[in-house]
Amino acid sequence: MYKIAPSILSANFAKLGEEVDNVLAAGADIVHFDVMDNHYVPNLTIGPLVCEALRKHGVTAPIDAHLMVKPVDRIIPDFAKAGATYITFHPEASEHIDRTIGLIRESGCKPGLVFNPATPLEVLEYTLPKLDMVLLMSVNPGFGGQKFIPFVLDKARKVRKMIVAGGYNCRLEIDGGVGPANIKEVAEAGVDTFVAGSAIFNAGKGGDPHRYDTVIAALRAELAKVGR
Ligand code: DX5
Ligand code: ZN
Repeated sequence: MYKIAPSILSANFAKLGEEVDNVLAAGADIVHFDVMDNHYVPNLTIGPLVCEALRKHGVTAPIDAHLMVKPVDRIIPDFAKAGATYITFHPEASEHIDRTIGLIRESGCKPGLVFNPATPLEVLEYTLPKLDMVLLMSVNPGFGGQKFIPFVLDKARKVRKMIVAGGYNCRLEIDGGVGPANIKEVAEAGVDTFVAGSAIFNAGKGGDPHRYDTVIAALRAELAKVGR
């Protein structure tokens, strides 16, 4: 089943709780939570305190914590305590990938690996059976509002084949430059979980959260055409 995961990176941080309530009410499935450290990526965002604040605010939807931080292990238990559902990390950010996956699982969260556009998929040979999520970056990480990189569609097809071949229960997510104009093509490449930041939140800029309904409905309408 397809899931839409708005990236709160493009939300209005001055009223984040309300923004998250509004996108969820508009039909979003998962809250995509971008964590940047000004070291692994050249930008700085939010951490476990904000994740916990969203839970305290009453958000019950899955929170997909995308950790663009290095090192990664130290902060994992904090995100687990803060109420993250998925915790995904970049293999380049961990010296011991298998250990980090285990740490996420032991902390009670669902582990995922994130691949930058030019990062090869080799480590999946040994890790895929243990993962609940593979996240393919379709932009270089660090910023919202960038242009979709088309060669990532080939990677998506490869990962989908691996998931099917092994019969794994693992979501395939894409992150970066996704919107109503390309979501169908992305789904046809085997992706089932779609991060969209600027495509969703920019639609609501100007203060009308009802525009979130319109853009999420447009994304779903495109998904409904897949395979036809
Ligand atoms: C980029 C982040 C993305 C970003 C996507 O490093 O991981 O989640 O917010 O934003 P859009 O959908 O605007 O490309
Ligand atoms: Zn992200």
